[in-house]
Amino acid sequence: MKKTRIVIVEASIEKVPKKIMKHPAIQKDAKRRGRDPNKILLYLPIHYTALIKHKIPVTKRGRPDILHRILINILDHPLNKKGGLEIYFHTINDEIYWVNPEMRPPIHYYGFEGLMIQLLENGRVPPEGNLILIKRIDTKLDELMRENNRKVYALKKEGVKLTRQNLEKIYGETLVIGGFHKGEYRKDIMKLFDETISLYNETLKASTATCIALTMLYQMKNV
Ligand SMILES: C[S@@+](CC[C@H](N)C(=O)[O-])C[C@H]1O[C@@H](n2cnc3c(N)ncnc32)[C@H](O)[C@@H]1O
Repeated sequence: MKKTRIVIVEASIEKVPKKIMKHPAIQKDAKRRGRDPNKILLYLPIHYTALIKHKIPVTKRGRPDILHRILINILDHPLNKKGGLEIYFHTINDEIYWVNPEMRPPIHYYGFEGLMIQLLENGRVPPEGNLILIKRIDTKLDELMRENNRKVYALKKEGVKLTRQNLEKIYGETLVIGGFHKGEYRKDIMKLFDETISLYNETLKASTATCIALTMLYQMKNV
């Protein structure tokens, strides 16, 4: 079966920056959960005051929960269970990770956070052993998207309306999803797209957009 390559881009997976580590919002959060402040992910809903105090722009930062929800949707989707997907994500720091399509992600956000910390520190999850669930790969984003002459389609509110016809062409190619909550794709990333595909005339949550696109692909191919 031809596999569709999913690439989630600009996911905000980063540890709390050193600059704001001493801020009470960070200290309190770490203490409440019995964690070392150096071993938690930056999480906007809880660390907002620390970011604002230090004038750190928040547009595309501190929302690792978005990647978490997208991965839950993808990994549980019948299209994935039938072996129809390859899954990768890219972070705001330009790291690229491969995700084992057979992995079952933790449902609880803090469980997911623990995996991401392991991933940032060791480059893979779990840190040792033959079975790899997620690993950092040394590939450039454009090479990943275009490997074997794949076409690159990106989900975006402003784009060609999704129809049966253009759905057919996405199948087996690369489908890009923005792993961020606000703003547009980075300009250098946008340049890599052959076409943008719109699912609805309003902005959707990235996880909703993912689910719609995968379900349509699944129903069309009835794999
Ligand atoms: C919350 S949105 C980012 C906001 C961005 N201004 C937008 O409208 O696409 C996150 C991602 O969800 C997907 N998405 C959101 N709304 C969509 C729509 N109406 N059609 C297709 N994809 C959408 C896109 O991949 C987008 O990058």
